[in-house]
Amino acid sequence: MHETSSVLELRQLVRAARAGGDAVGLVPTMGALHAGHLRLAEVAGEENELVVMSIFVNPTQFGPHEDLARYPRDLDRDRRLAQDAGIDILFVPDVDAVYPGGADEQVVWIDPGPLAAHMEGASRPGHFRGVATVVAKLLNMALPDRAYFGQKDAQQALLVTRMVQDLAFPVELRVIPTVREPDGLALSSRNVYLTSEQRAQAVSLHAALQLARQMIASGERSSAHITAAMRALIGRDAPAGRIDYVEVADLATLVPLTGSVKADALIALAVSFGSTRLIDNLIVRFQGDEVQFS
Ligand code: PAF
Repeated sequence: MHETSSVLELRQLVRAARAGGDAVGLVPTMGALHAGHLRLAEVAGEENELVVMSIFVNPTQFGPHEDLARYPRDLDRDRRLAQDAGIDILFVPDVDAVYPGGADEQVVWIDPGPLAAHMEGASRPGHFRGVATVVAKLLNMALPDRAYFGQKDAQQALLVTRMVQDLAFPVELRVIPTVREPDGLALSSRNVYLTSEQRAQAVSLHAALQLARQMIASGERSSAHITAAMRALIGRDAPAGRIDYVEVADLATLVPLTGSVKADALIALAVSFGSTRLIDNLIVRFQGDEVQFS
């Protein structure tokens, strides 16, 4: 595995690989790698000859009161995991390489538009402007054929997919299913912050989504009934949790579905345990008479 912090060197390596006919996959991360990231690396390895993983804790996607300073960082561990996962190039730029002169000097930003008005975007103002801008930069730095994102951050994946489409980035985006603990908790770098009591209760996010799935599979279509049942489950099983949102939204626009769930939908929720905020989601697709869940 080759490691570089230089954008120039990264571009040269990628250009040489592509000139030799190799396809290049990019796995953008903020480090604190877990099995979810390693799954992205695995799929990228199956689909490309050269895999680049970036590790960059992007300051502009954290709000002033969020966990940028305490975001878990362990580059030695990440390096070992990336190497074992078969990453060819580990790109670890410093802030100056991504934001020349510092993040405060950035003048032109990607406006994420209405997709950022709901859910995570409503709770974390400015978050998706930072995400969209840094992903645009990473795509321009690595110039990959494909880039890999996890479904756990469904709104991010949807937004980046639209950005690539709307701004004609020459890259194929791949969204990979969420990797879960055996009890269903979605893997997240933030899970390490949970106390054992919070960890036990955190499984209620997945349980609430499973309940929504059962309700829809048995014919329930009222978005209000579904979200009320999900909230009740979390209230009962996770007394230490504070619900930020539980929403059923149109899968294409993320506008909340307040009436009936008849079109493809994203059911998403965010629950905080102390200062640790967890998110999870379920995608519902209607195919004729059949309903598919992912
Ligand atoms: O999902 C993440 O880890 C980050 O939001 C990303 C895509 C690497 C951008 O900083």
